[in-house]
Amino acid sequence: MRSGKQTGLRLVLMGKPGAGKGTQAEKLAGDFGLPHLSSGAMLRADIREGTRLGKKVKEYVLKGEIGPEELITEAILGYIERNGLGDRFVLDGFPRTIFQAAELDRKYSPHLCILLEITDSEAESRLSGRYTCGRCGKVYNLDYSPPETPGVCGRCGGKPARRKDDTPPAIRKRLQIFESEARPVIRHYESGSRLERVDASLPTARVLQIISSLIEKEE
Ligand code: AP5
Repeated sequence: MRSGKQTGLRLVLMGKPGAGKGTQAEKLAGDFGLPHLSSGAMLRADIREGTRLGKKVKEYVLKGEIGPEELITEAILGYIERNGLGDRFVLDGFPRTIFQAAELDRKYSPHLCILLEITDSEAESRLSGRYTCGRCGKVYNLDYSPPETPGVCGRCGGKPARRKDDTPPAIRKRLQIFESEARPVIRHYESGSRLERVDASLPTARVLQIISSLIEKEE
């Protein structure tokens, strides 16, 4: 973490599945002291714990489809409110529809939205090498960033595994949905001059550097 660096900033990370939203959000959370809110991670935790929300979204998540958006919006915005995070966060995976963007704008309008851009084939290749720790959520990639000890999470000792929605049909579905649902959201933020595009095919450290300098310009 940069020494004592704390920013008041509402940041949204957007991008195709596999673009690196989770990877970058985790690093930005550490570097800038921004709470990291991931709608996907939240839904997967609810599914694991068998909560009411988890039961409702399970089939959608497994197939790579958009879950019931009003319920998910309520869950995310409710979490921000209950935890007093309205001034500073990095959101990953939310908003992903125009409805969600409008609801977020109404309560916690983002200062900066970063669109991480990669091709579909790069996304598919990254997701086929992704392993996520079932205990702490740390993300690895067998090709680019494998755990130091094969099969063991370097952070908590858990066992990294493939995500259940990283099957070829679910990946294709998620990519299609990104094209149809996210494009209007991108236009929405672009027209408000809050969108910055970043080449996410670059190495992780370089992408982080670019995003960090965009954040620093906001301060
Ligand atoms: P979610 O978990 O948000 O999935 P996603 O959008 O498909 O994104 P991913 O998590 O797959 O990719 P990422 O961009 O975070 O990439 P990562 O950093 O892991 O959502 C899952 C599901 O939940 C949805 O399909 C939907 O059903 C539901 N849902 C979620 N939010 C919802 C909402 N708001 N409304 C309705 N439904 C919702 O990186 C990928 C891999 O690449 C990793 O292995 C990583 O190590 C590697 N990598 C990352 N960056 C680099 C780099 N620069 N170079 C090389 N490798 C890299």
